[in-house]
Amino acid sequence: MSSSRTSDVLVVGGGIIGLVTAWRAAQRGFATAVVEPMPGGGAAEVAAGMLAAVTELHYGEQTLLGLNLASARRYPDFAAELTEATGQALGYRRCGTLAVAFDADDRAQLRELHTLQQRSGLESQWLNGRECRRLEPMLAPGVRGGLRVDGDHQIDPRRLAGALVTACERAGVVFHRVWAKRLSVVRERAAGVRTADGTDLAAGRVVLAAGSLSGRLAGVPDDVLPPVRPVKGQVLRLTVPTRYAPFLTRTVRAVVRGSQVYLVPRDNGELVVGATSEELGWDTTVTAGGVYALLRDAHELVPGITELPLTETRAGLRPGSPDNAPLLGPTELEGLLLATGHHRNGVLLTPVTGDILAHTLTTGELPAEARPFSPRRFTTAALTKQPA
Ligand code: GLY
Repeated sequence: MSSSRTSDVLVVGGGIIGLVTAWRAAQRGFATAVVEPMPGGGAAEVAAGMLAAVTELHYGEQTLLGLNLASARRYPDFAAELTEATGQALGYRRCGTLAVAFDADDRAQLRELHTLQQRSGLESQWLNGRECRRLEPMLAPGVRGGLRVDGDHQIDPRRLAGALVTACERAGVVFHRVWAKRLSVVRERAAGVRTADGTDLAAGRVVLAAGSLSGRLAGVPDDVLPPVRPVKGQVLRLTVPTRYAPFLTRTVRAVVRGSQVYLVPRDNGELVVGATSEELGWDTTVTAGGVYALLRDAHELVPGITELPLTETRAGLRPGSPDNAPLLGPTELEGLLLATGHHRNGVLLTPVTGDILAHTLTTGELPAEARPFSPRRFTTAALTKQPA
C-alpha cells in the first residue's frame, strides 16, 4: 500500500458532474484531484444532450424546474468560457425544440404540458399539424399538433466532457486514473479514499460525484450513502449524409404510445435518437427490443429516418434519485459532499452544479437556490419528521 499527495478537494467520479466540480474548485484556488479510471466517460458518453427545462417539465417538479432554468440561463456564458479555456467547440446549438402529437391521447397529454408550462410562466407556442410540418418538413403527415419551445437547446455531451477534461488539466487538476474503492473516514470525518490499486489519497474534502455508482462506495456510512439508482437508457446514433441536410433543424420529440422518443440533430451531421427508460439495475445491454422500439417510434415521427446509416447503439445509466432531483452539497459526515442524482438532467444541470459546489466548498454553505437539493432531505431524521 502507498500514500499519495494530499489535495484540498478530491472528487470521486470524472463524468461531467465530477469534472465541472473539479474545474470550478481549481479555479477557486483549491488543490484539486479527480479519481476516475476513464475521465469524461459515464452517462454523458451516451446522453443526447438536450437542454430541455421546458419540454421535460413534469407535474410535482416545480422546484427542480427553478434549478433547471437557472442552469439553462447560465449555458451561453458557461459554453463560451469553456471554449475560451480549451479552444474546443462544444456543439452548443440554440436550436429550439418541437414536441409533437399524433393521436388524440398524445395531443391531450401535450395540451396538459402546455397548460402546466403556461401556469409556470414558461414560453411555448401551440401549433397545428401544418404549422409543425412547415417548421420541420420531414415530419410525418400524421402529426396533429405540437408545441414549439424556442428556449430548449442542445449541446454535444461528448464534446462537453472532452472540453471539461482539458479545462481541468489546464487548471491544474490532478487525475488518478483508477477506481475509488473505499472512502477513508478518520475521527468521524471523510479524509480521502483508498483506490483499487491500494493507494491512499488524502484530502481535506471529498466530493462524491460518481453518477449511479455514488450509492455503492464502500466506507460511506449507511445513512449518508446517497439513494441513487441506475436508470437505463438506450440511445442510437445515425448520420445524416450531406445530400439529405438539413434533415431536421431543431430537436423533435414526441410521446408515441406512452414512450418518449426524441431526435437531436447535431451540426456535424450526427442524429441522436433516444431514449428508453428501464429499471434494470446495472444492465447496459443494448437489446433488439430497445433498438426496435426507438426506430419504430422515430420512424413514425420522421419516416425518412430509415434512409440514414445507423452508426452506433449504446446504453447508459442515468443516476436516478427518489424525487428525480440531484443531491448537492454537504452530508451528515463532516468533509463529505455530494454532487449526484441528476437523473434526466445531468447535462442541463452541469453549469449550475459547478457553481453550487464551488460556492459550498468556499463558504461552507449551500447557496439559496440549492437548499431544496441538500442530501439531508433523505436522512432518516428528515424522512420521519411529522408535518407540524
Ligand atoms: N433527458 C433525456 C433523457 O434522460 O432521456
